[in-house]
Amino acid sequence: MVAKIVVTQPVHAEQLQRLRDAGHEVVALDSPRGLSPEELVDAAADADALLSQLTDKLTGDVFARTRLTIVATIATGFDNIDVAAANTAKTIVTRTPDVLTDATADLAMTLMLSVARQIPRSDADTRAHGTGPFQLLREPMGIDISGATLGIVGLGRIGEALAHRAHFGFGMTIRYTARSSHPAAEERFGASRLPLGQLLAESDVVSLHAPLNDETRHLINRETLKLMKPTAILINTGRGPLVNEKDLAEALRSGEIAGAGLDVFENEPDVHPDLLAVGHRTVLTPHIGSATAKTRLAMTSLAVDNILAVLAGDPPLTPVG
Ligand code: GLV
Repeated sequence: MVAKIVVTQPVHAEQLQRLRDAGHEVVALDSPRGLSPEELVDAAADADALLSQLTDKLTGDVFARTRLTIVATIATGFDNIDVAAANTAKTIVTRTPDVLTDATADLAMTLMLSVARQIPRSDADTRAHGTGPFQLLREPMGIDISGATLGIVGLGRIGEALAHRAHFGFGMTIRYTARSSHPAAEERFGASRLPLGQLLAESDVVSLHAPLNDETRHLINRETLKLMKPTAILINTGRGPLVNEKDLAEALRSGEIAGAGLDVFENEPDVHPDLLAVGHRTVLTPHIGSATAKTRLAMTSLAVDNILAVLAGDPPLTPVG
């Protein structure tokens, strides 16, 4: 069957060629930003497949007003997609887990170290003023990551890959929260599962890896931030709305916690101005968890594999759910 495949935003050209080589019609919209539900309905009205990204807003209306066989999102998170509406419309939704696990865990570790050792600030100071004389009692001093306690909120694939790096590479003690216990991780990393409040109180670094849903939105807020140590660092490479950004900025400003490394934001593409005002106690990156050349290619390739499989009448490789 010759299918019409709409591609919302720029992706690897050779991966689109794979779709064309299979005989399909590809309409590449090349939008520089995510599409609204109205734009998606217009663009995909007569499409069979949609190759989308995490900034495309796939609401119930989109599924009700199109006849898509498959939506393949080039992301592991799918909080931008109304999956219940997709199920009702009998549209298959696929995502790209696994292939981005290492790159994202690497970035979480990078942010942790960058905040603890104030790398962006040191870099800026050195460029501006040179090193200055060596000083034993140089302020501000860094925070030790080796041997510290890491609290992982949501021990999925990425959380577990971070636990591996932190435990075996840095001798960190691992604590985690999850819906159910993970005996294999407990055995491997000596990890223990704790209620969120206890994990926040005991951890030197807290890293967020929970999916975004009604239960996890603003998990980190004024009240939960109060439970953390004043020396603690918060890392978020998951989804921005897991954190109330205004409350976090206030906790950083008042010294309730020591620092934060954030790759995702509550209202992307914007960053809360209070958070920007906190200055060197935060390290901010623009949603680049999976942004290595190899990983981004693997993500696009997996999404294309899913489309080709489903259009050929085979089961999807990595469906949501
Ligand atoms: C990135 O945030 C993803 O969900 O893949």
